[in-house]
Amino acid sequence: ASTRHYLFSVRLKNMTRLCHTRQVVTVNGMVPGPKIVAREGDQVVIKVVNHVPNNVTIHWHGVRQLQSGWADGPAYVTQCPIQTGQTYVYNFTITGQRGTLLWHAHATWLRSTIYGPIVILPKRGVPYPFPEPHEEIPIIFGEWFNVDPEAVLAQALQTGGGPNVSDSYTINGHPGPLYNCSAKDTFKLKVERGKTYLLRLISAALNDELFFSIANHSLTVVEADAIYVKPFTTDIVLITPGQTTNVLLTAKPNPPKTTFVMAARPYVTGQGSFDNSTTTGILEYHSPSLGNSSPSITKLPLLLPTLPALNDTNFAANFSRRFRSLASKQFPANVPQTVDRKFLFTVGLGTNPCPNNQTCQGPNGSMFTASINNVSFSMPTTAMLQAHFFGQSAGVYTTDFPENPPIPFNYTGAPPNNTLVMSGTKVEVLRFNTSVELVLQDTGILGAESHPLHLHGFNFFIVGQGFGNYDPSKDPAKFNLVDPMERNTAGVPSGGWLALRFLADNPGVWLMHCHLEVHTSWGLKMAWLVSDGTLPNQKLPPPPSDLPKC
Ligand code: C2O
Repeated sequence: ASTRHYLFSVRLKNMTRLCHTRQVVTVNGMVPGPKIVAREGDQVVIKVVNHVPNNVTIHWHGVRQLQSGWADGPAYVTQCPIQTGQTYVYNFTITGQRGTLLWHAHATWLRSTIYGPIVILPKRGVPYPFPEPHEEIPIIFGEWFNVDPEAVLAQALQTGGGPNVSDSYTINGHPGPLYNCSAKDTFKLKVERGKTYLLRLISAALNDELFFSIANHSLTVVEADAIYVKPFTTDIVLITPGQTTNVLLTAKPNPPKTTFVMAARPYVTGQGSFDNSTTTGILEYHSPSLGNSSPSITKLPLLLPTLPALNDTNFAANFSRRFRSLASKQFPANVPQTVDRKFLFTVGLGTNPCPNNQTCQGPNGSMFTASINNVSFSMPTTAMLQAHFFGQSAGVYTTDFPENPPIPFNYTGAPPNNTLVMSGTKVEVLRFNTSVELVLQDTGILGAESHPLHLHGFNFFIVGQGFGNYDPSKDPAKFNLVDPMERNTAGVPSGGWLALRFLADNPGVWLMHCHLEVHTSWGLKMAWLVSDGTLPNQKLPPPPSDLPKC
């Protein structure tokens, strides 16, 4: 194993998209930012220097951070933000993972422009469990705002209304020709006839799940969230913010004279999702012997892919069911067969009364809020992990996060407005090595809605999913404990539930939240505290000396 060093210089850069120029917070002047490449078992050391006025942190989304919780990154959870002029070195070892992940800022809405791919190669000499690709290409989806996303966030919080939509989706930073003045700003994927490519699909979008397809080409899914998958072929991929999906694309031996378009547009189920526009890129055949001889896209007829209807929840549910881990001798599924603790968490939006002297833009003049088990998470002003480590949690967080909804009701029916939402910084305490079963239930209080939930510090196994209310007397009998998919981000079905299992084998404070940024901002998050019962937590090494202070 070796050590990989990166320097991330966070700085402002003028960028133009859709004929709008603005100052953008970037890493090294690039959006998407630099690609991190490592092998399984490598140590990764990233020095982040903050040259912008904003407070910054970076999260290595999906990296397990075994015993390196200080490097996880969510602001005020595992660290205080890196302030202007400060430096922090993220230092972690990639243990037992290979595949594609992503990194992104984890403070306010900075991840709209601070994001990039993480490519983890297998250990040297270990082959992929699928045919060796001719080339590997990251395809990272994002969203571009013509205005400062921080202002959009402020509006979503102050008025409690839905935020302004982003102005475009992007593929590797490019909106593509369906958007205003973006014909030249188009991603091109160049392929040679008959060759196979590994596309590392990554969603760094903010507020929408996306359908993705390439005209007239099937995709074979081989990996997701850095976990190998039993391969399956599909024309369309659904990818939620925070997810990664590796697919094989085989270029045709004799392609017709056509421009193949790739396209992504949102899967929209509820209040958090507003945009219905499409980002496109081009799949371009070229022949090295003839030089780059492809005619320009204007000269060939355009062939567009067909994408599902914007609200195609059946497609979403069926697609996610197709993911199965390899679960073989080489890659055994570690799903806990028995569990020590069971939790039922409701996830959903609700409303709060509008504060006096304010005009709010939620339903009936209310403010939107979002909660888990009716607790809307409030960000502390100092880092929870530090508070835990030094035994100074008083005034920072409390340990009374509810294990079940405070009032059981018909979650997917049409109950009255959720008047019980309270705010707090509450954690659920888990003894080190506890096996956990967690059922996430969409409440549908403001209409059913899909929520891509992300867990820091762990992968979880998806043992079951369904529509309607979770039934603890019937549904567990159908759980898949043989080859369940292992992920770090999974959509709670719109109007349904998702059952997960994981082993709490990683000491620290681990955020779990909806990866739709506006829902997170409204409070759809909580934290698990995994403790060995000692103070300081002896399973957790002490903080690095350059850990930022609040
Ligand atoms: Cu990808 Cu807590 O985030």
